[in-house]
Amino acid sequence: MEIFRTKSVEQSIQDTEAPEHQLRKRLNAVDLTVFGIGVIIGTGIFVLTGQVAKNTAGPAVALSFVVAGIVCGLAALCYAEFASTVPVAGSAYTFAFATLGEFPAWIIGWDLMLELALAAAVVAVGWSQYFVSLMSSIGIEIPSLVLFGKDLNVPAMIIIAILTAVLIAGIKLSSRLNLVIVIIKVSVVLLVIVAGLFYVNGDNYTPFIPPAESTPGVEGLKAPLIQVLFGITPVAFGVIGIFSAAALVFFAYIGFDIVATAAEETVNPQRNLPRGILGSLAICTILYVAVSLVVVGMQPYSELNEDAPLAEAFRAVNQPWIASLISIGAIIGLLAVVMILLLGQTRVLFAMCRDGLLPRGLAKVHPKYGTPARVTLLVGVVSLILASFIPLSALAELVNIGTLFAFVVVSIGVVVLRRTRPDLPRAFRTPLVPLVPILAVLSCVYLMLNLPVETWLRFVVWMVIGLIVYFAYGYWHSRAARR
Ligand code: ALA
Repeated sequence: MEIFRTKSVEQSIQDTEAPEHQLRKRLNAVDLTVFGIGVIIGTGIFVLTGQVAKNTAGPAVALSFVVAGIVCGLAALCYAEFASTVPVAGSAYTFAFATLGEFPAWIIGWDLMLELALAAAVVAVGWSQYFVSLMSSIGIEIPSLVLFGKDLNVPAMIIIAILTAVLIAGIKLSSRLNLVIVIIKVSVVLLVIVAGLFYVNGDNYTPFIPPAESTPGVEGLKAPLIQVLFGITPVAFGVIGIFSAAALVFFAYIGFDIVATAAEETVNPQRNLPRGILGSLAICTILYVAVSLVVVGMQPYSELNEDAPLAEAFRAVNQPWIASLISIGAIIGLLAVVMILLLGQTRVLFAMCRDGLLPRGLAKVHPKYGTPARVTLLVGVVSLILASFIPLSALAELVNIGTLFAFVVVSIGVVVLRRTRPDLPRAFRTPLVPLVPILAVLSCVYLMLNLPVETWLRFVVWMVIGLIVYFAYGYWHSRAARR
């Protein structure tokens, strides 16, 4: 059928060679790993760890990080094969176009907006909260701005505007800035682990998995879909809680896949991409498990702070200086997360416009800077508007469901591409196909089922809007159709 027309891998690569649509190749494996860590370590570990330990998993939140890390690892093995076979800007969108066809590709590109642009806004809001609190601790109050009766988040808007300008000016500038930020961020995380060890109290680990409790306030739309489907009264903690928590802390891993969106700007992508993706994921998993074990050892889980748990754990043991250092590190660290999420979104949108599924004029590369300036500006403005008024928590769940869905499609795509194009050179091959992709799909779907019913509803509404846009515009303007 026409809507399943694919774009061959050769065609995808050829499209990147048209001069006015060409991005510069400058990144190596270390740049990519730094990119990965830059976007992976963020709100997830700095904020969600405390919330999730306190409300959903207790000290066993460390196990939730292991579960989420394994799910991401399975998906990463699939991502790595795809990225090394189809080294073209656009990540899962491009992969889907090469394998499953235009319509599934559109669906995934539309879905990725949920992951990227929305997550950029969410993390910018998290950043602004740290920023406002640090400022007020030194006596500076940020004035509020009210528009149409809504309190606008001015710091979040300003930071997105600045980062958008940095991205337009050129990727090398941004990756250098990112390197500095990543060094600071990883140092702060190591500081938490090493300094925190001195304050760990073994008593805080019992019970490691608190007994399951029913959550009377959480019902209907707020309950995880899987509990509603099986008629379980919503519970927190216990073994079930570990998995519900895994679906939430999954947010902390989002970003390794974005490394794949920089494929077109990578030197020798066949070798460097898999290294960048798997390397950054492995490093982050180890750091997360260590940080969460230390933090739940420093304080009883029920006393963890929900806004800045890592810093507050040190304040609780009378180390305000370490607490301040951590806050400053978080503020600087979240900056890189927002920036790379924005970067990932611009590259996906760039690919979609270049294919004619959205207006092609947007996919022009800036003659001086060599970056897709128009889409970058568009993404910056949209994220800025979202960040100016949206609240944080529920939207993080929406980001998770969108990302997990993308992982499902990519994992299926690996199997499809092995069948349809066995001849393609694959610098990185996913081990044990189809077992690993099947496990990746099942585990991602399982985490999706652990998300609240209302998150599913929002997800479905967004995807339906995507369908309408495709049949109103993309279907008629697609370049694949003209060929
Ligand atoms: N993984 C990123 C974070 O935790 C999105 O902020």
